[in-house]
Amino acid sequence: MVIDMSDYNQLKGKIEELKSELNAIIVAHNYQRPEVQDIADFVGDSLELSQRCTQVDAETIVFCGVRFMAETAAILNPERTVLLSEGNAGCPLADCITIDKLTEWKQRYPQASVVSYINSSAEIKAESYTCCTSANSVKIVESVPNNDILFVPDQNLGHYVATQTTKNIILYPGFCYVHNRIKPEQVKLARELHPDVKLIVHPECQPEVTELADVVLSTSQMLRYVQASPDKSFIIGTEEGLLHRLHLDNPDKTFYLVSNDQICINMKRTTLEILAQTMEFKQNIVTVPESIRIKAKEAVDRMLSVT
Ligand code: 13P
Ligand code: SF4
Repeated sequence: MVIDMSDYNQLKGKIEELKSELNAIIVAHNYQRPEVQDIADFVGDSLELSQRCTQVDAETIVFCGVRFMAETAAILNPERTVLLSEGNAGCPLADCITIDKLTEWKQRYPQASVVSYINSSAEIKAESYTCCTSANSVKIVESVPNNDILFVPDQNLGHYVATQTTKNIILYPGFCYVHNRIKPEQVKLARELHPDVKLIVHPECQPEVTELADVVLSTSQMLRYVQASPDKSFIIGTEEGLLHRLHLDNPDKTFYLVSNDQICINMKRTTLEILAQTMEFKQNIVTVPESIRIKAKEAVDRMLSVT
């Protein structure tokens, strides 16, 4: 899409003005649209965003991402206002486990400790021993005293962790549709088209895909890996939004997506227009009831203390 630069500059100016009016910081996930990433004060993966949200001075946190991310910011910052850039930006993976389902699974495996992927609601985090992100999942699972782990809700990430640890991992059958639809056949085709090119995939991909990869990394780990590598081209198995920073940080390198449908609709809901509107009208305030927040914070803090 070609952006009209006068519209862009006008919106950028308006967002900057609103930012000082609200005394706000704008944080964005690596999958956001390029122009949204460019206007943010901080861009990162889920772990970096959680860590950044423990060090906020501003009164308002404007979160360009999806709901569970803004909720995590609200869990960590009860005294600040957290705005979600687009009110309908949810995550189907996070939504696939409800508190009733978790209760049922806990009853089925009473001996297990619950480790919830950060892609889950505050209610689920509140009922978990600890949380993890794609960047620290193995380390977090290893840190749990119990040998039996009920890992929710991403079965692909849970399966990846199980290949890296001796812990007994019980998998809940959730998945991210964006990563799960990357098929091994597409990977093999990409490999044929680009021989001798390293394949980097996200652990939310199916086991049949991660098995074919050279490395399995979170989004920001991918950025660091590519920058440190002497290689000049890479095949990428994650949401296409990451390509923006990959290109910015590595103008001399070439990137190929495994397939052309690696797009998260919810991550793309935030446009500069919508962001400006959210800030202007102080819309989409994300709050977590105190009784849930305190318990969820224990799980998030436990994760952050290990990381
Ligand atoms: P990370 O950026 O933490 O790897 O997360 C990927 C993701 O799917 C977030 O929704
Ligand atoms: Fe959820 Fe997948 Fe989108 Fe991340 S990429 S927000 S896990 S649907």
